[in-house]
Amino acid sequence: MDFSAQFEHYRLQVERGLDELTPPAGTRPARLHEAMRYSLLAGGKRLRPVLVLAAADLFAAAGLDPQSKIHDPRPAQSTGSGRSVDPLAAAVAVECIHTYSLIHDDLPCMDNDDLRRGRPTAHKQFDEATALLAGDALLTLAFQLLGRHYAEHPALCAALARAIADAAGSEKLIGGQMADLLAEKKSNATAGELEYIHLNKTAAMLSVSLVAGGLCGGATATQLAALHDTGRHLGLAFQIMDDILDATADTATLGKTAGKDAKAGKTTYVSLHGLEASRKFSRQHTEAAIAALAALPGDQSFLRVLIESMAVRSN
Ligand code: IPE
Ligand code: IPE
Ligand code: MG
Ligand code: MG
Ligand code: MG
Repeated sequence: MDFSAQFEHYRLQVERGLDELTPPAGTRPARLHEAMRYSLLAGGKRLRPVLVLAAADLFAAAGLDPQSKIHDPRPAQSTGSGRSVDPLAAAVAVECIHTYSLIHDDLPCMDNDDLRRGRPTAHKQFDEATALLAGDALLTLAFQLLGRHYAEHPALCAALARAIADAAGSEKLIGGQMADLLAEKKSNATAGELEYIHLNKTAAMLSVSLVAGGLCGGATATQLAALHDTGRHLGLAFQIMDDILDATADTATLGKTAGKDAKAGKTTYVSLHGLEASRKFSRQHTEAAIAALAALPGDQSFLRVLIESMAVRSN
């Protein structure tokens, strides 16, 4: 399969998982579940869940059966070690956390954005309280899914919950978001402070996506460290590119408001280092991510092209 077909294959698995593992819109209270599904099923690149599935496949003898029952937590595929377990619920869990972080990131008390994934943000479509609660519910749903779908693999379940909670917690994603807000309008933010922000608000979730796939695939500790390192560099390259696109792309292409960072006085790679140096940093981290990937087993070509494609993306 070529890259595009393979990406589409993973993306369709993710879309199906998101739809089937999130409570139906009519579930009581309907407004809350509608809002959760509104944000979750609104498109998006699905980078993180695709990373989970692709990382797991590095360790699998063959791809997972796309028809496998995702409500049945039996191992979907065995590599012979008996340790390869269907990563789809973990992929959905990671996208739930990512989507919650976007809903909260867009709230008036944070980045105050009106547009997300080409549609009104959750608080514009519903209201602030509903958006807040939909975010809370998606964060919680992530861990409900891990508990439900990996109960028959207690060590894997605990490892996934621990790794994902660490990445989403106060010392990573939420800490990065806090530091991002504190750095607004701060004229003397340092390069080190900015790297802290990007590593935590963005790279931590990309790292844990790869690690979660590795855990489902039965990766060794050394392989998990290589996956983590790949995600760290990919995450930095990705957020630097997000800063560049905010400054250079248009709202229609981005599906979110362009030019917001400068208006809000955010400290970004573009504001601190300029466009040209930012592009250079983004390229360097893309190369470092691909170099870290080389330590992993299996066919790395899909992940390599995916990482390269993120460096030249338009949204
Ligand atoms: C947006 O993430 C937030 C950042 C960490 C830059 P994405 O660019 O992956 O957003 P979606 O999921 O495609 O909407
Ligand atoms: C961080 O960065 C996003 C999250 C961790 C949610 P931004 O605030 O730059 O993300 P966008 O540009 O709104 O997607
Ligand atoms: Mg933000
Ligand atoms: Mg934002
Ligand atoms: Mg941004």
